[in-house]
Amino acid sequence: MDPPLSAPTPIELRPLDLARLTDDDVGALLPLATALRLESRPDDAPPTAASLAGSLAAVAGMQELTVEAVVAWEGDRAVGRALAFVPSGVDNRHLLQLDPQVAPDRRRRGVGRSLLRWALEVARRHDRRLIVGGTGARVPAGDAFALAFGARASLQASLNELDLEEHGSRLFGPDGLVAAWIREGPERAPAYELAWLPRPYEAETLAPFAALKSTMNDAPRGELDVEDRVYTADSLRDMDAYEITAGYEPWTLVARHAASGVYAGFTEMVWHPDNPAIAFQGDTAVVPAHRGHALGKWLKATMLDRLRRERPGVRVVRTGNADSNAAMLAINHALGFRQAEGGTVYQLEVEELAARL
Ligand SMILES: CC(C)(COP(=O)(O)OP(=O)(O)OC[C@H]1O[C@@H](n2cnc3c(N)ncnc32)[C@H](O)[C@@H]1OP(=O)(O)O)[C@@H](O)C(=O)NCCC(=O)NCCS
Repeated sequence: MDPPLSAPTPIELRPLDLARLTDDDVGALLPLATALRLESRPDDAPPTAASLAGSLAAVAGMQELTVEAVVAWEGDRAVGRALAFVPSGVDNRHLLQLDPQVAPDRRRRGVGRSLLRWALEVARRHDRRLIVGGTGARVPAGDAFALAFGARASLQASLNELDLEEHGSRLFGPDGLVAAWIREGPERAPAYELAWLPRPYEAETLAPFAALKSTMNDAPRGELDVEDRVYTADSLRDMDAYEITAGYEPWTLVARHAASGVYAGFTEMVWHPDNPAIAFQGDTAVVPAHRGHALGKWLKATMLDRLRRERPGVRVVRTGNADSNAAMLAINHALGFRQAEGGTVYQLEVEELAARL
């Protein structure tokens, strides 16, 4: 006898209240997050319920972004989810950043399309005209999906990694590259000094560090129709709250002009105890007026030196760079960073999406 035919379980989208996440929500989302992690970062530790809950709660707490979330349910199984990040500060009021994910075994069934319908409604409600989202080359479905809805590839950006097992002997030790760059620092930039900023940022560092952080606007944005970000004291409080709530240990190192105390450059790194073999190299920038003194190398070498001493279990330092960012890539390549995964940032006009859905 033939087995009874059963219709596929219908998919239902329900908003997720990130500010009031329950253990059941997190329990349902964990297998989805684990499958996506395995697909794109198979060597990383799988997410834990605590780290997933922490990262979702952290995005919900931000002041300069309104974050909305939706889950696609197949019965009681979460088979997809999307997060929409809507800038609510002074800049980029035309933008919505979207991060849709569908379980690998539930793709090509229209779940992604229904997440886009939800995103269209969110974009219209917030009066946004442009949707931006990123893909990684390890999951080519993301590119096919973006292109199918008329998105344009607007920036090539890669995940670059420094393998400390492979490069450790060349980098560390008295004759290593890190020690050499730290020695060269004060020789090539005698008017400057380095200082660690306590996190959360202290009240008196908020305004000058926000001004320094705005140097990140010099990083290439390709064809992306994205404005300069206006960094304020609130932006820094958001970053503190995000990183600390999500469970990261954040380090910030600044270079300052010793006589005046003016900030000239900075570099940031975060580390999470649930993914302890990986450290994330965050933003690095030197203010144009202070370039040409090898401050970038001094900053990055000093950060790596601390990482080696205080986190000897870290195996890989991971970072993201625009492929066209020659200045940053020159330093990173010299240290031993190599491309681990190419990626593309897409942009899609909201009205173009509406026409395609
Ligand atoms: C991108 C992603 C969300 C798509 O989810 P999905 O549920 O498979 O998408 P849909 O079934 O709604 O696909 C809609 C259309 O996109 C296109 N598409 C999606 N995946 C594709 C693939 N692997 N190859 C070719 N076209 C594809 C097709 O035109 C498809 O319509 P069709 O099946 O009628 O031909 C999913 O692959 C995913 O989670 N990827 C990892 C995360 C990611 O890259 N997100 C960023 C996306 S910007």
